[in-house]
Amino acid sequence: MADTKAENRIFWENEEKKLDERVFHAVWPGGGDALERLGRQGKRCVRDLIERLVDAGTEFYELSRLAGFGMNYPEVEDVPCAGLVTGLGKIHGNWTMVIANDSRVKAGTYFPITLKKHMRAQAIAEQCGLNCVYIADSGGAYLPMQADVFPDDQHFGSMFYNMARMSARGLKQITLSTGGNTAGGAYIVFMACQSVMIDRMSYSFLGGPPLVKAATGEVISAEDLGGARVHTQISGGADHFCKTQDEAVERVREILSMEQPQQLCLNRGPDMPPRLSPVSLYENLPARIHQGINVRVILEAIADNSHFSEYKKLYAMGRGDNIVTGKMRIKGIPVGVIAAHGLGIIFAEAARKATEWIIRCSQEKIPLLFVQSSPGYMVGSESEHMGIGKYGADMVRAVSCAQVPKVQLVIGPDNGAANYGMCGRAYRPHFLFSVMRARTSVMSGRSAAEVLLSIEERKRVSAGRPMNTEEKDAFRRQMVEKYDGEAHPFYCAARLLNDRVLKLYEIRDWLGMAFEVSLLKPIGDPSFGNLRF
Ligand code: COA
Repeated sequence: MADTKAENRIFWENEEKKLDERVFHAVWPGGGDALERLGRQGKRCVRDLIERLVDAGTEFYELSRLAGFGMNYPEVEDVPCAGLVTGLGKIHGNWTMVIANDSRVKAGTYFPITLKKHMRAQAIAEQCGLNCVYIADSGGAYLPMQADVFPDDQHFGSMFYNMARMSARGLKQITLSTGGNTAGGAYIVFMACQSVMIDRMSYSFLGGPPLVKAATGEVISAEDLGGARVHTQISGGADHFCKTQDEAVERVREILSMEQPQQLCLNRGPDMPPRLSPVSLYENLPARIHQGINVRVILEAIADNSHFSEYKKLYAMGRGDNIVTGKMRIKGIPVGVIAAHGLGIIFAEAARKATEWIIRCSQEKIPLLFVQSSPGYMVGSESEHMGIGKYGADMVRAVSCAQVPKVQLVIGPDNGAANYGMCGRAYRPHFLFSVMRARTSVMSGRSAAEVLLSIEERKRVSAGRPMNTEEKDAFRRQMVEKYDGEAHPFYCAARLLNDRVLKLYEIRDWLGMAFEVSLLKPIGDPSFGNLRF
């Protein structure tokens, strides 16, 4: 196992090659055949459209690319990229959420994971106060799974509920239809503040021609039933008529050209690159997941000018420093940091320090970055008697009630209640990123194997069939494999437990973007809650 800097670097570079391979499958579903089919339909690839939509020369920050792999749905194992492209890009200088169906994946239909991804993108937009552009080309609900996508909260109807509420709050909901939008899917056009349709390419109707024929006997073409001309000239269901996709993309940009420029709600300093190169991240993160890390050097490779101003550095050494707290700037934005250090096991002293720091930053209106690499709070009688339950709970309470944007970056073990205290998904971080070293599960495979083995052994003894050594080893191996698989960033990303698996050199850019976008709404806005500690 690698333990030198050079070996660590090679290890993480190889891991990121695996990430590249998976991303390739997400981005090119159906390969050349699917591209040819799009070409025959006169359509551009969805990411090509997005590139034209965002300001020239600016980056599109694509989220959740690994969603949908290994889902094992009826008849479908993988739904590459969940059949939906979501992400943040600038339109006329304003950050905008883009949500776009990829018709190459089962006609852009909605599986449960597609809905989860759609809702997550809408939630980010609502939380950060962003306009949304929908590029709609979808066959609607994935019909074999209608019971799992249609009737419940966070199912199909919630997409339109969210559109209505965001538009009521003044967040523009613009739809560019580039294909079929049938039944429930038609509402993505009709619910928009403004919608753009393309001649002989976009359709929108509550029932398509086959359903109309079955229901009423009427025989009609899709174009005459709900094409761009029908909706822009007769029904009024859509607002803008375009002849081509390129013209339609330009029209969306023009619609958004009158928006007020966005502003950060706090003062930003100059962007000063770290003195430590990003290569140091590859060298300083041990290949072994459960080996301790020196998080200070990790922070120095991310912070402006590699400057980390530490808080309570000397407090309770050996027990209080498994969590490191302090401030740094990322691309000029001041950020309060709570980072797991060493083995990352959180002792009562560390929990108290973290709680105090979270409250302090929240009162100072400084956003929070949680760098998670903790296998949990310290267990055992000494720790329990010290009040780890109580002080860990205080940390969880502070994280829950902090009134500032929070971002979580997972770079190692992410287990048990440390997932809560370090602002896991349930604590609504504005963004949650992982790297290939992240492992998120209730406990490590080794610990789970021992717990489950003790239960299994008891059962077998009472059944008069105690386990022999080989059986115990096999049981352990099976559990470790299962837990390691489920904790892996690919497994978690497939289920949208993170917003993106970042390469190590991408961390700084992405954190910069995440804090910038999260600070477009004034801190103290009612959507942050108005809680007192
Ligand atoms: N549920 C499940 N699968 C669907 C689907 C749906 N709603 N709509 C399309 N698909 C599948 C097709 O079976 C096909 O699967 P395959 O690749 O394994 O053969 C794939 O998606 C592509 O569909 P296809 O019809 O070949 O694509 P197209 O570009 O020619 O047409 C649509 C796209 C959306 C116009 C057309 O598929 C359609 O009308 N679908 C039904 C829409 C509908 O009535 N939805 C109601 C749901 S609320």
